[in-house]
Amino acid sequence: MISPLIFSLLILSQAQESSPSPAESKPTVCIIGSGIGGSSLAHFLRHYYNSEEAKRPRIQIFERNSVVGGRMATVNVAKESFEAGASILHPKNYHALNFTKYLNLKLKNPSLSKSKDSLSLGIWNGKKFILKTFNVNSQNPLLRKMVSLANSLLIFVRYGFSILKMDDFVESAVGKFLKYYESVETRPVFESVDGMLKWAGLYNFTKRSLLEELTDAGLSYSLIQELVTVITRINYGQSACMSGLAGAVSLAGSGGGLWSIEGGNWQMAAGLINRSDVALHLHEEIKSISHLTEYYELNSTTGNTFKCEVTAIATPLDEENIQFTPPISIPERKLQHTHATFVRGLLDPAYFGLGDLSEIPDLVGTIEDPELPFSSISILKKNSDKDITYKIFSRKPMADTLLYSIFSERKETIRIDWGAYPHYQAPELFAPFILDGQHLYYVNAFENAASTMETSAVAAENVARLILSRFFGDDSLNFSSLKNSSPAGEGLHLDL
Ligand SMILES: Cc1cc2nc3c(=O)[nH]c(=O)nc-3n(C[C@H](O)[C@H](O)[C@H](O)COP(=O)(O)OP(=O)(O)OC[C@H]3O[C@@H](n4cnc5c(N)ncnc54)[C@H](O)[C@@H]3O)c2cc1C
Ligand SMILES: *[C@@H]1O[C@H](CO)[C@@H](O)[C@H](O)[C@H]1NC(C)=O
Ligand SMILES: *[C@@H]1O[C@H](CO)[C@@H](O)[C@H](O)[C@H]1NC(C)=O
Ligand SMILES: *[C@@H]1O[C@H](CO)[C@@H](O)[C@H](O)[C@H]1NC(C)=O
Ligand SMILES: *[C@@H]1O[C@H](CO)[C@@H](O)[C@H](O)[C@H]1NC(C)=O
Ligand SMILES: *[C@@H]1O[C@H](CO)[C@@H](O)[C@H](O)[C@H]1NC(C)=O
Repeated sequence: MISPLIFSLLILSQAQESSPSPAESKPTVCIIGSGIGGSSLAHFLRHYYNSEEAKRPRIQIFERNSVVGGRMATVNVAKESFEAGASILHPKNYHALNFTKYLNLKLKNPSLSKSKDSLSLGIWNGKKFILKTFNVNSQNPLLRKMVSLANSLLIFVRYGFSILKMDDFVESAVGKFLKYYESVETRPVFESVDGMLKWAGLYNFTKRSLLEELTDAGLSYSLIQELVTVITRINYGQSACMSGLAGAVSLAGSGGGLWSIEGGNWQMAAGLINRSDVALHLHEEIKSISHLTEYYELNSTTGNTFKCEVTAIATPLDEENIQFTPPISIPERKLQHTHATFVRGLLDPAYFGLGDLSEIPDLVGTIEDPELPFSSISILKKNSDKDITYKIFSRKPMADTLLYSIFSERKETIRIDWGAYPHYQAPELFAPFILDGQHLYYVNAFENAASTMETSAVAAENVARLILSRFFGDDSLNFSSLKNSSPAGEGLHLDL
């Protein structure tokens, strides 16, 4: 289903290095999960480590799947590969940009083949399109420009100056987030998600809903119920009642300049793992983590046992069955499940009350209505007028009977049920980065603020510095001014 691609190579190259009889002095850092969180944690641990070679940690990554990348995965439809999970990156996702450069990966502008200007959007309310921008099939640049202008005008007429206020809101949130790229000389290491968010001025956004935030920012009711809701439903499968920070992130993901990685975003994880001197254990699902006096004992479902001085969890714990000894306690929450359905075929214009296929917008978004069976339908690839590949997002599985009514023709259907991201509900409560006050870390504690590839990397960077300063001592970090830079309540614990 999710394509494995060329992982056999990676597995082979990693297999031999697993354990060259570890010298007693070398501690082991174990990472559970090989998504962008786990892989970038390994990368930053290597990048920042600046202590004796004799103490340089061994790093092991455990992944229950047969491939790395987690929610970055591709799917093959009609022998062509598409992003099945995380698909787009923002132009200011600086870690992802740096990884791409460092790993010599190729940037892809998803809207290059079909320029963003010519991508038509429709907002479907179950009965009719309440907004439908014009589609342009012409290659004539002047005509394209004019249609694009007409579409901007259309949106402006419907939502007025509210649309500018929405931009301001998003820009302000993005601007605050940029603080996480400040130099490590001036940027503290955070022991809690709360502290990390407060430092950047983002904490308050997690305490109120997007609806409340945008209403205060002066956006009109119709803009929030329509365009904003369409976007939050596409990006997080949730309504504008979701919490404000994740909502702002979702709106930022609807702007211009979005990109992805040619051949699949999962290559960031594969490349970072390959270059970080990591022992990768695929098909190894960790089922228990026990804190014994000097180390953690990790048991996997295959019956293996691993000894780790430091353990970092780089996957959401909400749907996990890992048994902790002693037990840990984190705020209870649910994941939002997103069903991604890939269909090669043709939509039925009659379903939308239209006469011709060409009248259906390239992207069909929907408003919040429990009767609506899907969140969005978009064209992934138009091979010809008779051969189109679509992606559908929905909160519930797309049953065959439903697909029969929406499509006039279906050659191939692939369904993926993602435990996609947290179900966001303000006020958010955050799990700690340090789960047991010792050396059990939780990268995805930050995901309850917002879930993206970049936020995972930002959280991993902080956890890497946290591990180095707490376990290996401040001197292990390749920046000396850290010691005094912690704000109140964020003091470093040099307990080793
Ligand atoms: C449909 C969809 C669309 C999305 N769109 C975007 C987007 O456009 N842009 C964006 O930036 N983000 C997007 N996201 C969010 C993004 O995918 C995630 O925020 C990000 O990939 C999370 O990375 P992670 O490393 O924290 O977790 P994951 O990628 O989930 O990695 C965790 C890994 O841990 C493994 N694992 C779990 N439990 C165990 C265990 N017990 N033992 C061993 N291994 C274990 C899992 O198999 C997995 O590989 C989307 C997500 C989905 C589902
Ligand atoms: C791993 O990285 C090396 C360069 O450090 C590269 O030559 C090799 O192709 C990479 N392997 C994989 C599987 O990506
Ligand atoms: C990305 O790389 C550049 C050049 O190496 C560096 O100056 C910048 O700080 C890096 N950005 C991040 C977010 O690490
Ligand atoms: C966050 O909210 C608190 C209390 O409501 C307020 O005192 C504080 O100034 C706000 N912070 C920011 C950055 O807006
Ligand atoms: C983990 O495995 C070891 C060795 O088999 C065993 O002694 C221990 O009880 C197991 N721990 C848990 C929590 O199951
Ligand atoms: C940090 O590491 C770089 C190389 O990785 C080195 O050139 C530099 O001198 C180090 N800085 C300190 C303060 O140790």
